[in-house]
Amino acid sequence: MFLKHVLRKPFLILGVGLLLLCGMSAWYWHMYRYLPEEVPPPLNPRYRDASLPTEERIDALLASMTLREKVGQMALVEKNSVWDKRDMSTYGIGGILSGAGAKPDDNTVGGWRDMVNQFDTASRASRLGIPALYGADATHGHGGVPGATVFPHFIGLGASGDSTLVRDIARATGDEIRDTGITWSYSPTLDMPKDVRWGRVYETFSDDPALVSRLGVAYLEGLQGAVSTTTQQKFSVLGTLKHYIGAGSMAWGSSSNKNFHIDQGTTPADSVRLPTYLNPFKAGVDAGALSVMVGLNSWGETKLSGEKHLIQDTLKDQLGFKGFVVSDWYSVYEIPGGKYNASVTAINAGVDMVMLPFEYQTFVQNVMHAVAEGDISQGRIDDAVRRILRAKFALGLFDREGLTPDTHSLGSREHRAVARKAVAESLVLLKNEHDVLPLRKDVGLLRVAGGSADNIGKQAGAWTVEWQGIDGNWLPGATSILAGLREVAPKNTKIEFDEKGNFSKDAPLADVGLAIVGEKPYAEGWGDTALPILGAEDLETIARLRAVSRTLVVVLVTGRPLLITGELPKWDGLVSAWLPGSEGAGVADVLFGKKSFTGTLPLPWPATLEQVPIKEDESTTDGSETLLPRFFGLRY
Ligand code: BGC
Repeated sequence: MFLKHVLRKPFLILGVGLLLLCGMSAWYWHMYRYLPEEVPPPLNPRYRDASLPTEERIDALLASMTLREKVGQMALVEKNSVWDKRDMSTYGIGGILSGAGAKPDDNTVGGWRDMVNQFDTASRASRLGIPALYGADATHGHGGVPGATVFPHFIGLGASGDSTLVRDIARATGDEIRDTGITWSYSPTLDMPKDVRWGRVYETFSDDPALVSRLGVAYLEGLQGAVSTTTQQKFSVLGTLKHYIGAGSMAWGSSSNKNFHIDQGTTPADSVRLPTYLNPFKAGVDAGALSVMVGLNSWGETKLSGEKHLIQDTLKDQLGFKGFVVSDWYSVYEIPGGKYNASVTAINAGVDMVMLPFEYQTFVQNVMHAVAEGDISQGRIDDAVRRILRAKFALGLFDREGLTPDTHSLGSREHRAVARKAVAESLVLLKNEHDVLPLRKDVGLLRVAGGSADNIGKQAGAWTVEWQGIDGNWLPGATSILAGLREVAPKNTKIEFDEKGNFSKDAPLADVGLAIVGEKPYAEGWGDTALPILGAEDLETIARLRAVSRTLVVVLVTGRPLLITGELPKWDGLVSAWLPGSEGAGVADVLFGKKSFTGTLPLPWPATLEQVPIKEDESTTDGSETLLPRFFGLRY
């Protein structure tokens, strides 16, 4: 009745509509466009003088900056949020990121370079011409770009235990990143997983602090490179130690994300364990890291991005970290009390650069307001910006115009050779009854089955083209494990393949059946699982293959140890291949004995669910023996 009455009054509707429109525009203007006017201080051009020491250049630049320009430097904005590139200079944005899967429409090296160049040029057009950082997650190679070399995920590198190899991989990754114009990678991950149910186990080297420290430093050094092209430039690409801290020790069921179980959960605030968690970060800081990412987890009750004791007091004051601390994704705004309070808390806790996936305008306004109100000191802002600028100077960004040239290294033959070697070194031999491996030269018939045998997407895992990975064989230049077997097999070995293991029962038995099975790609909390086991389909495939083969070898293509205790007695051989990436032939090199098994388990392999989480000293939750201990690995 009432609605009918109102609808009959067009002027009333028009008036209310206009009022609403004006209100919304005023709100929008205030929230997103209003920035207080500031009189810029006189410009001190000494920051451009490459002959001066970096700290002097930073002093000169800081003295030339307005508050807005400083606060803008503290914003790391997701590239899809920047609708108007002029905002790069209006807000003085400090960094841009391509969140997982955030690629240019033209997903080629040229497409990436164009996109990065636009942001770079727009940032250099600002009053002081401060170049923005551009960051991406090149977690196992520059996997976001089709055609890149996709290296084994870190868990496989942990199994290799080879720091020279890890340094080479990181160097190659750095080359491929730089070719796309990117200056910053969010790696290496230094998390240490205690619970195989966590969806990020494969992103870690190991649960052993000493191994993580050793490989983390090797990776950082390889990625950042030793550059001496100018007196100031220390790095070719900036690395990031993540996720600070205690990531991997969150309790099951504690996630702050309703879709997840353990990722983004709570790490018990245990000061006794803190030195163990700090160990790899200390090693990375001592090796010259200039960026650390704070995790999405909580430390006890406190969201880590707001943990002053751990960020300011421990990382910066105690460990002497001189670089900048960046927050992860939306974590700052997950600090309770609204966005203003969250920004104040995080910055006062020591976060220097805030990752802003969805907006930056309110951030800049809030922080400027907080300084005016005395909620954040000018000194804290200067310290944050000094740290960010230190990394930019270390990258030589001020001492060149635009991007470094494309060296056409992406997916190069040399890099693929490093990756193939890495695959071979990452394999771990877990069972080898009757010396079924290496496959003998006189194997006449080899039957191969399983959903991971001829699926590059599965063997590459997540953070490959898409955040959650891809399914199938459409990664240019890559080799599936099956294709690798065909390439390496001796001439007299016939290979038959059926994904589901449906071979004719009337045909003669195969000498060896090779079941290549495992997990579908997953990233972050989407990979949290209550029961990490092989799926029914895989088990059926294995059973079918078993029935038509004299001996059976299972190759697991997984991001974590799966619970296989009940199945293991039925298999003659077992190999963990982790997530090998684009060079599947590395698996064949070892299976056919061209190379030996050298890998060892980077973490203990649980026998039952009741054993997890497992501590560093390998003691299990229920006190029983694990299936296999850390560093287990058979040799030929
Ligand atoms: C992840 C980080 C990653 C960031 C940027 C977050 O969801 O936790 O590891 O660096 O996204 O893509």
